[in-house]
Formats: sequence, C-alpha cells, structure tokens
Amino acid sequence: MMDRPEKLNVVPFVNVDNMMKLVLAVGVERFMVELAGFVEEDFARWTLFDKVPRIAAHSAEGVIELMPTSDGATYGFKYVNGHPKNTRTGRQTVTAFGVLASVDTGYPLLFSEMTILTALRTAATSAMAAKYLAPAGSKTMALIGNGAQSEFQALAFKALLGIDRLRLYDIDPNATKKCVRNLAGNGFEIAVCRSTEEAVEGAQIITTVTADKQYATIVTDNMVGSGVHINAVGGDCPGKTELQKAVLLRSNIFVEHTPQTRVEGEIQQLPTDYPVTELWEVVTGRRVGRRSRDQITLFDSVGFAIEDFSALRFVHEKLKDFPCYDELDLLADPDDPRDLFGMLMRARTT
Ligand SMILES: NC(=O)c1ccc[n+]([C@@H]2O[C@H](COP(=O)([O-])OP(=O)(O)OC[C@H]3O[C@@H](n4cnc5c(N)ncnc54)[C@H](O)[C@@H]3O)[C@@H](O)[C@H]2O)c1
Repeated sequence: MMDRPEKLNVVPFVNVDNMMKLVLAVGVERFMVELAGFVEEDFARWTLFDKVPRIAAHSAEGVIELMPTSDGATYGFKYVNGHPKNTRTGRQTVTAFGVLASVDTGYPLLFSEMTILTALRTAATSAMAAKYLAPAGSKTMALIGNGAQSEFQALAFKALLGIDRLRLYDIDPNATKKCVRNLAGNGFEIAVCRSTEEAVEGAQIITTVTADKQYATIVTDNMVGSGVHINAVGGDCPGKTELQKAVLLRSNIFVEHTPQTRVEGEIQQLPTDYPVTELWEVVTGRRVGRRSRDQITLFDSVGFAIEDFSALRFVHEKLKDFPCYDELDLLADPDDPRDLFGMLMRARTT
C-alpha cells in the first residue's frame, strides 16, 4: 500500500471569521486585484473547463443554485441563494459556501464560506471585464443599488481601473447612507443622488446592483449616452432584469457562459440567437472588447462557476501564507479503508 498522508480525515475549513481575517490581512483592494488575476487566468484557459449552466431551484421568493466546474485536475462547486426579500427579516439576499476537491482522489481540498467571497469575486470579475470594455481613463462610476455588494464593486473598480468618483442611488436612502459611511476614507469623491437619472449624469461606467424579482427597468434608454460601459450585476435570474430592452439593442453585449446568460441575464429579453461575445474570447485576444469611443459596452453579469472556482483556488493558495482556517473532521477515515462499520462500532463508549 502507498504511504497514507497524515490526517486524511481533515479538510481546511474557512469560516466567516477566518475569511474576514484573511481578507483584512491581505488588504481588501490587494485581495481584489490578486483575485481578479486568478479569474483572468482561468478565463484565459476557458476551453479546459467543464461548463454547465448552474442548476437552479426557483421558488416564488428566490432561487437556490449549485455551480460546479472542473479544469480536469481540480473540481469546485458553490451553493448559493438569491432571495431579494430576505433583508426584511435581517437575512442576506445572497449567501454561499463552496468546496474545492482533487479530481484524482475526489477528496475535498478546501471547504469555505462564500458569502463574502462571492461579493469579492463578483466585484473582481466586473472590474476585470471593465478593464477590456470601459472607456480609457474612466474616473466616474454610477452605482445603482447600495446593498451588500455595492462597496465591493466600488473598491474593485478603484483598485483595477482607478475609479475615484462615485454617484450613488438606492430607493432606500438608508442603504446609500450605509454605503457612504463604509466607503469614507477610501479616497472617493462621492455624490448622493435622488434618482438613477441623476446618478448616471457624467458617469463613464454605470453599475447596476439592485435586487428585485421582476423585469425592472432601472436604466432606461434616455439615460444612456454614447461611449459608456454598463456593468449590469443585479439581473441574474429568469424574470429578474434591470435594463430596458432598448438599452440592450444599442449595446455590444459581453457575457460569461452564453447558455446560462440566455436564461438568466439581461439578454433573456432578446431573441435566443442575438449576437453576444463571451468575455473569455476578449481575454484571450480572439475578439475585440471596446472598439471605439462612441460604442456602448454592456457586461451582462450573472456569475459563472469558473469565477467561484478561481476564488476558491485563490483562497486555497493564500492559506499557505495566511493560515486562517480550522481543521474540519469531515471525512471518515478508518485504518482499513473497507472497515467503515468497524470504525463506527469501535466508537461506542458503552
Ligand atoms: N452577477 C453576479 O455574479 C451576482 C453576484 C452576487 C449578487 N448578484 C445580484 O446582485 C444584486 C444585489 O445583491 P445584494 O447582495 O447587494 O442585495 P441587497 O438586497 O443587499 O441590495 C440590493 C439593493 O438594491 C436596492 N434596490 C432595489 N430596487 C431598486 C431600484 N429600483 N433602484 C435602486 N435601488 C434599488 C435595495 O434597496 C437594496 O439596497 C442581487 O440581485 C443579487 O442577486 C449578482
């Protein structure tokens, strides 16, 4: 028999407390930049990955989704929910956890909280996309929807693109106040706006990150001038969109995994053969991102499994320098692999 490594029962587990310690030890902006690098690296080797649209269980109030993928050596999945009414009962709209595993043995390598990690990876992916799509020299971003994801989006765009002016709007003024408070001292010039129309004035980038389970029209055609980049994050389920259809028809549309986005993204409003470009094609240089100053670009973000894989891979790597984890006794490990029942019986105390 080959040598058995020590502690085969143990899987490193990153709980919420340790995730916060890890992110703060690395620094939020540096974490976002390095994570965006991992996402970009995985988009560059896109063709290697297993790709399936996430498996979604829809209900009247929300959705629960499983998001698996593998690069052949490592497998990852995330459990995530989306329940816009949750905040009324003190819960998050989105919560998540995930696993990274070895394809060779099927043994998990990492088990992690992913509520915070999802906010980080969503923002890092948005900013990575904007590097290819936003107009050069962008400084001002409108941020519509000032909930849980919003500060992460602001800081990722600052760290990766140099955005230092924000124009905030939320239907709930308390959400905007919270966002202003949280972003104070980060070097942003912040304007609090009374409507989406006011917020998009003079912005080169428009980020929508609202939560509402309906065909919403947060951004209408009259609000979108030529040359802007739209980072549409909140429309990510059937029957849950943020942009008026006319905005889509004037934009060049960039997506993650087309079959998933056709069902979940803003483009669910368009015919199923409407031309879109997958972001990985831009990252690898097969297709062009922004072509001209006047072009309207749209990243129709819904969140794809490879981004979660990249995030778990990044955290797994970081744990080597920052051991922010617990040892979780997750895997039954009898001395004789076939004596699982014997191990159970030997655990009897009486
Ligand atoms: N694309 C992705 O990868 C991805 C990842 C995570 C979350 N999301 C989505 O992003 C959205 C935001 O998530 P969150 O965790 O920040 O939710 P949240 O509930 O914490 O915040 C949403 C905010 O949107 C505001 N809002 C709702 N309708 C609005 C409107 N018409 N105009 C302006 N503001 C409005 C709410 O008042 C709230 O403050 C959700 O829809 C979620 O499903 C997408």
